Amino acid sequence: MTRIAVIPGDGIGTEVITEARKVLDVALPGHEATEYDLGAARYHRTGEILPGSVQDEIDGHDAILLGAVGDPTVPPGVLERGLLLKLRFDFDQYVNLRPSRLWPGTNGPLADVKPGEIDLVVVREGTEGLYAGAGGSLHRGSPAEIATEESLNTRYGTERVIRDAFQRALRRDRRHVTCVHKANVLSHAGDLWRRCFEEVAAEFPDVTTEYQHVDAAAMYLVTRPQDFDVIVTDNLFGDILTDIAAAVTGGIGLAASGCVNPDHSHPSMFEPVHGSAPDIAGRGVADPVAAILSTSMLLEHLGHGEAATAVGRAVADELAGRTPGESRNTSAVGDRVAARVSELLG
Ligand code: NAD
Ligand code: IPM
Ligand code: MN
Repeated sequence: MTRIAVIPGDGIGTEVITEARKVLDVALPGHEATEYDLGAARYHRTGEILPGSVQDEIDGHDAILLGAVGDPTVPPGVLERGLLLKLRFDFDQYVNLRPSRLWPGTNGPLADVKPGEIDLVVVREGTEGLYAGAGGSLHRGSPAEIATEESLNTRYGTERVIRDAFQRALRRDRRHVTCVHKANVLSHAGDLWRRCFEEVAAEFPDVTTEYQHVDAAAMYLVTRPQDFDVIVTDNLFGDILTDIAAAVTGGIGLAASGCVNPDHSHPSMFEPVHGSAPDIAGRGVADPVAAILSTSMLLEHLGHGEAATAVGRAVADELAGRTPGESRNTSAVGDRVAARVSELLG
């Protein structure tokens, strides 16, 4: 039996996960889901962020479905680092997979780009970079204050995520990989990334390649997003570029992701790209599509291809039927998509 650990988290995380679970219930009947009440409420109640025993229990599942963590009542980073990043690091989820498509029916902000024309995936490194390096501060609060933040890049970590991006490119139509970094300024990490990219590229003669500095890549994602196929990049650049990619493909409410451990040595985690959105939390207006599409990625990862495809089709139908600018009710979207999935699998 498939065992899924569910972490709804904070803010709209809990709202969108309720809808994702409706869809999961019909897409994969008979799975066992265990909910973990990690996040701001538990932190305030008990002071715990991610107790070791809970982490071990989660580790025993086939996959994790997460909503979002982070809350204005908790100092920034406490939950994000102590829960979300800890799971990504400890479970070696080194491929942070973030696809972006301009779905039919979706009105993106770019006037000259038509649905179907954007179909890219960012393979964001998930366990290293500025997220994992040492840092420190001196003379805190004084005019002489110093703060440092180090980017940690290993050959092992860089090479393995780049190789994963090439393997993914081989399974796609255009077979093109763009490596994004900032080698003109970050001479150590940038140099390692460029050399690893060139070496791995030589193993994949059927894949075409390109290198872009991150500032230019950010611009091209807005001026000609159609040209991208697979983008491989470091942790922080990938974080920023995937919000841009989401924005040009109909918004953050549609952007799904998977923090994947390709070796299956620990569970992979599937979550929307967005956060807990305190500005709209509790109003029932958050779009659950990103969480539902993340559930489709979870199903695909666990080998339930037919169920994954049905969820993708149901979302496509949902989006095709939308009127631009119309306000949506979170639970109505979940009900419609779940009903369509059950029809498709019926
Ligand atoms: P955010 O993604 O929560 O919100 C940014 C904007 O997008 C807001 O205006 C919000 O209303 C809107 N938005 C987000 N998801 C939406 C949805 N499904 N439907 C409609 N609108 C949506 O980013 P933020 O405001 O920078 O961060 C809020 C909190 O979430 C912070 O604590 C941050 O650390 C955390 N965060 C967590 C994750 C995660 O758990 N994976 C990701 C990003 C941010
Ligand atoms: C994301 C988020 C996280 C990240 C934060 C909340 C730690 O922005 O998943 O994109 O930076 O990876
Ligand atoms: Mn982000």
